[in-house]
Amino acid sequence: MKKITTLFAILLITVRLSLAGEGMWIPMLLEQLNEPEMKSMGMRISAEDIYSINKSSLKDAILLFGRGCTAEIISDQGLILTNHHCGYGQIQRHSTLENDYLTRGFWAMDKSQELPNPGLSVTLLIRMEDVTKQILEGIKPGMTEAERAAIIKANTGKTEKQAIEGTSYNARVRPFYYGNEYYLFITETFNDVRLVGAPPSNIGKFGGDTDNWMWPRHTGDFSMFRIYVNKNNEPAEYSPDNVPYKPKSHIPVSLKGVEKNDFTFVFGYPGSTQEYLPSYAIEMITETENPPAIRLREKRLGIFDSYMEQSDLVRIQYSNKYAGVANYWKKMIGENRGIRKLDAIEKKQAIEKQFTEWANADAGRAGQYGKLIPAFESAYRKLNPISEAETYLIEAGLGVEALRFAYSFNQLAEKSKDKSASADELNKMVTQLKSSAEGFFKNYHKPVDRDVFASLMADWVQHQDVQALPEMVARQAIVYNNDFNTWADELFAESLFTDAVKLNKFLGSYKAKSYKKIEADPFYILAQSVYNHYFTNIQPLSQQIAMQLDSLQRIYMQAQMEFQPNKRFYPDANSTLRVTYGVVDDYYPRDAVFYRHYTTLEGIMEKEDPSVYDYVVEPKLKELYNTKNYGRYAAKDGSMRIAFIGSNHTTGGNSGSPVLNADGQLVGVNFDRNWEGTMSDLMYDPDQCRNISLDIRYCLFIVDKFAGAGHLVEEMTLVE
Ligand code: ARG
Ligand code: GLU
Repeated sequence: MKKITTLFAILLITVRLSLAGEGMWIPMLLEQLNEPEMKSMGMRISAEDIYSINKSSLKDAILLFGRGCTAEIISDQGLILTNHHCGYGQIQRHSTLENDYLTRGFWAMDKSQELPNPGLSVTLLIRMEDVTKQILEGIKPGMTEAERAAIIKANTGKTEKQAIEGTSYNARVRPFYYGNEYYLFITETFNDVRLVGAPPSNIGKFGGDTDNWMWPRHTGDFSMFRIYVNKNNEPAEYSPDNVPYKPKSHIPVSLKGVEKNDFTFVFGYPGSTQEYLPSYAIEMITETENPPAIRLREKRLGIFDSYMEQSDLVRIQYSNKYAGVANYWKKMIGENRGIRKLDAIEKKQAIEKQFTEWANADAGRAGQYGKLIPAFESAYRKLNPISEAETYLIEAGLGVEALRFAYSFNQLAEKSKDKSASADELNKMVTQLKSSAEGFFKNYHKPVDRDVFASLMADWVQHQDVQALPEMVARQAIVYNNDFNTWADELFAESLFTDAVKLNKFLGSYKAKSYKKIEADPFYILAQSVYNHYFTNIQPLSQQIAMQLDSLQRIYMQAQMEFQPNKRFYPDANSTLRVTYGVVDDYYPRDAVFYRHYTTLEGIMEKEDPSVYDYVVEPKLKELYNTKNYGRYAAKDGSMRIAFIGSNHTTGGNSGSPVLNADGQLVGVNFDRNWEGTMSDLMYDPDQCRNISLDIRYCLFIVDKFAGAGHLVEEMTLVE
């Protein structure tokens, strides 16, 4: 009897351990697929409280923020919370040397001070629906990929149109499981979103790019915005007459905090994962694509760094660009290490071997799946050099700011040659380009770009065969005898696109025949050559192989489900709303090293270094620390908790996502993953993968005690 109980206990434990963590689940299927497990892990609310179309639910408070983050509604007056790094662009755009909100922070002390952000929108999901049947209607076995794609496109258009007839909503159908299933998403988008508050960068970005992707972490990574609508509570373009949005639901905020093993879930918009690719793809990503991308980004960052250190203006101009380049640079490094440490390629190879054996063990299956893995192998062998060339083109060619900018004059040049174009049309384009030039030069420092250019071109020419280079790059390397500095000096001195004054003057007196000057510009010529190389030598080939791979991957996905009938599959992230759940948990990153599951304000004081930009501590924060003035935001042990980690499976796009407790109350804001776990986009490891969340109590403490914006906390629904 005893034996049986122990065995049973062990079984229970292994089942329990395998429960938490991996998976990004579809909200409308939670009840069916996940609710029992979520409850067994401690959840006290129901799946219906998370996603419902019959009553208000948490989903009515979850937003897609801007192009790629998540935000949540935290008051009945449309107050929303996201990360500092998600609102970074907006905060930067409102910042000047005199009014440097990026450095000093910004707090609207009443609604009249909230700042509009043209171009920023947030989107709510109204409902989702499985439309696989409608979308695949008319698809027959044996059709070519092109025929299939045409039918799907037509069915998608019809389905989307019908779904929103007579409403002001938007509709979008998205493929799941590589086109084995399709879901329809009905959404509502708000365009008047105003900045309410942001802490100074040495809180909101404390630790900067040095600590990025790493645990232990001490970043107060949050910012606040508010949705404004017209008098009927409907989305509207910005107007001073707009009023705060009254949401169907907002998330209550818990002051209770979390402890180890507490159930949490993250509700948001994960961007993209690739969990079901064959080993050849993982090999290509980690061995062909990541290494040159890492090296080229490192060169760019080194140059940015050296200039930013010397000038406050350049620091403001390049901080957002730096963060953008640094972020995936570091992610790729972590991903490569994680894949190696996990032996992910070997693991996939072993499964593929078993899979092929399984397929060939049955005559019917052999015909269907027996040649799948070899087909992948040959497709990826063809794709490898193309994808390498593409990586260089993107990371080296398009790493040059003036090159991208010069290319944006392409349409104007073409229109100017078109005899049927009216003067009005041209004027419109010129006006638009004037304003985009203004934006470009506001954040442009020519010496930075010049050095970047010389360094990236040298690397590109050194590492790629002549046939893999754009014609102009290959030619100029010969003309200048690989002296990339001289090439850079001459190019940057001659071009219109590196000089605000020259370009303004040119646009100020633009006439149709001025296109000749664009077309004679050396940077424009170079940009044309780089883009042409992409459009003629890379894209058509990669698209052709991609289409073949799409088809293989769709079959392989279905095959994997048949091969592992007991495995519970979740669809790869695709920027649609998902729920992921796990527990608050610590981990061992390396031999003999243990990482606790939370950090405290003590750690900020430990990291303090007034001589290093990323580790400067605000005097006011230090004062609050010294007097231990934490009020109701302190943890039970009296400490101020800053961040915590858990086994929720997240990815890029989950930034700003609410981290909720067993009662569906807000306990944190997701903002990162640990470095050891960044390979989770390709393969998840429950031992090493952790999501990093800001403790909501630190956020409220900063708003209330540090910024003196307690009125915002008053707006929220607090659970003490
Ligand atoms: N790694 C996080 C994410 O992928 C945060 C990035 C912003 N922070 C930074 N220091 N660059 O977006
Ligand atoms: N920082 C990421 C984001 O902006 C989230 C971290 C991750 O990739 O998991 O979405």
